[in-house]
Amino acid sequence: MNQIFETIKKIAFKIDHAIKTADLGYSDSENSSGEEQLKLDVQSDIIIEKAFAHISSVKALVSEEKEGILEISDSGKYTICYDPLDGSSLVDVNLSVGSIFGIYEGELRGENLVASAYVVYGPRIELVIATCDSKPMLYRVMDSEFKLIGEIEMKEKGKLNASGGTQQHWAKQHKNFIDSLFLEGYRLRYSGGMVPDLHQIMLKGGGLFSYPSTTDIPNGKLRQLFEVIPFALMYEQAGGEAIDDNGMRLLELVPAHPHDTSPCFFGSKYEISALKLAYGI
Ligand code: AHG
Ligand code: MN
Ligand code: MN
Repeated sequence: MNQIFETIKKIAFKIDHAIKTADLGYSDSENSSGEEQLKLDVQSDIIIEKAFAHISSVKALVSEEKEGILEISDSGKYTICYDPLDGSSLVDVNLSVGSIFGIYEGELRGENLVASAYVVYGPRIELVIATCDSKPMLYRVMDSEFKLIGEIEMKEKGKLNASGGTQQHWAKQHKNFIDSLFLEGYRLRYSGGMVPDLHQIMLKGGGLFSYPSTTDIPNGKLRQLFEVIPFALMYEQAGGEAIDDNGMRLLELVPAHPHDTSPCFFGSKYEISALKLAYGI
């Protein structure tokens, strides 16, 4: 597993370099979710695939940017599901973006996630790694190396509120709940990149990030294997909670297809309890 984490550090430097120097235009292809791919999405995907291609503990790779499962080594133990460049459409306005990695052992389902990691490409490069038996650990690049900053622990209750999806398509109960948090004094934080948005809420102590079911996208937008499940482990290990709109832990999701999505809510304990009350779940 350590070799995988070391590889993620090398990947982070390469993708950061690409973000800072590469062409920001569109490629002429779409990904499996029907989204136009930027050249940077494709380039980041290639960087990750090449980096893991010779790591013997890696059994297979599943990318947000590719349809199928890429077999790497028969004797490998882990399948790495990754979003090469989350929030890539924000690079041209110079906002923070990220890469997300879910490391699974066995069948691709939430309960088989053994570790997750994400990189934030912002004013600094940061990396967070979580395993099932430790708090998430924060690393930051200083003097061209990742240095351990410390453990991440969320408070019982936070101050930030971030909800995705088009408001005109929110369900009434979601609108009422989000309004109630603002009436309680919560402040809006939403950049449109789940990595910096979830990172901010986790590091500032807590709050709520929602990507609900909407009338136009009933299963939400965020993908289970590459986005939702890896962050669910982060939030639970940091002392928060991560559930869907039925109150089920996101770590219990069982995707039928690698690109399946799910409505999702990540927060500290207080906001998730309030959500359960508001949704009646
Ligand atoms: P990606 O760039 O990998 O396609 O993911 C973008 C995601 C996520 O980062 C963010 O939270 C969400 O899309 C924003 O969607 P909305 O604009 O619908 O809120
Ligand atoms: Mn993404
Ligand atoms: Mn992406």
